[in-house]
Amino acid sequence: MKLAQRVEQLPPYLFARISELIAQKRAAGVDVISLGIGDPDLPTPGYLIERLQRAAEDPANHRYPESDGLPQFRRAIARWYQTRHGVELDPDSEVVPLIGSKEGIGHLPLCLIDPGDVSLITDPGYPVYEIGTMFAGGETVKVSLREEDGWLPRLDEIPADAARRARILWLNYPNNPTGAVADLPFFERAVAWAREHDVVIAHDLAYADVTFDGYQAHSILEVDGAREVAIEFNSLSKAFNMTGWRVAMAVGNARVINALTRVKTNLDSGIPQAIQEMAIAALDDPRDTMDAHNAIYQARRDRVVSVLRALGLRVEPPKASLYVWARLPDGERSSGDFAGRLIDATGVVVTPGASYGSAGEGYIRISLTTPDDRLDEALRRLAAFARGEQAL
Ligand SMILES: Cc1ncc(COP(=O)(O)O)c(C=O)c1O
Repeated sequence: MKLAQRVEQLPPYLFARISELIAQKRAAGVDVISLGIGDPDLPTPGYLIERLQRAAEDPANHRYPESDGLPQFRRAIARWYQTRHGVELDPDSEVVPLIGSKEGIGHLPLCLIDPGDVSLITDPGYPVYEIGTMFAGGETVKVSLREEDGWLPRLDEIPADAARRARILWLNYPNNPTGAVADLPFFERAVAWAREHDVVIAHDLAYADVTFDGYQAHSILEVDGAREVAIEFNSLSKAFNMTGWRVAMAVGNARVINALTRVKTNLDSGIPQAIQEMAIAALDDPRDTMDAHNAIYQARRDRVVSVLRALGLRVEPPKASLYVWARLPDGERSSGDFAGRLIDATGVVVTPGASYGSAGEGYIRISLTTPDDRLDEALRRLAAFARGEQAL
């Protein structure tokens, strides 16, 4: 059997070496604690589960949904953007619900990329931008992010040839993996750059509502004229601890939203309607859910930062996202080696920054989604390791 090139070309699982070490440790009886995955440990709020249960009993919800979602869900998304970001959206032309934002991110290149076209992706970055582009037959050109720039891309350094062939510029703030945030002047510059080069900005706002210390994340659509060149992905996954329900949205430029809807109509049959009803309940009645979750993540963030500093890592507390991104101590070169040594000595798993691109080398990422008792045990071990004591 011959597999297609697009599958053969999939990069090897970058976490493979660490996974092997984890398996060895577990086989040896070590209680491994993973701080690797960004998947909220807290449950979906009970009032939303009750809404889902009620909706599941309605036979109208037992049939195929529409790919472009329930009109009332699209209207709830538009209201959400108005309340959260002061952005007015036409629910019929500027909104499409998604089966998780990953689905839309993966499918967007099918709308905009022909063979030979380029996606500009940031390095480090969420891997799906690159894979979706490759599946569509396009090329990716990486734009390195640097700590001294606050992990924002230098748009004026994008080579002219890449800018000419580019169809999509991917941005993601609050950022995975760096935890960086972007202010409105940055988004204004990005929109101006995209207009000048006739490139669509795909802004990934998956971490819109995981914010700390009173910070509020911006929608790129807050910028005047942004909807002429930009679409934005947003998700209920992290805001409402709903990663398991797969419900999200793309909003913005009507032509791109229409193209994405047409691609989806041909590939999927939409989000189960009971889940859409739960999502409407979340957006229309968020209660204090997000604040309560964020208070828990913020307290974890502060404990993590202080232990990482004791380990000699350089780290600034992030204003948003589920991640602490920390620079290895001077003299340490390989994030994979460092993560491997931590597992060996403490049984604690962190993600090597190089997993997100070569510009992530020299850093590690720690997720804040481990239950408090397990996180505290992991931090106890890391602190013991920092003091040169036996950790396990
Ligand atoms: C940057 C980023 N974008 C998008 C997603 C996908 O989120 P979902 O598909 O659950 O909406 C993730 C998931 O971790 C992410 O880190």
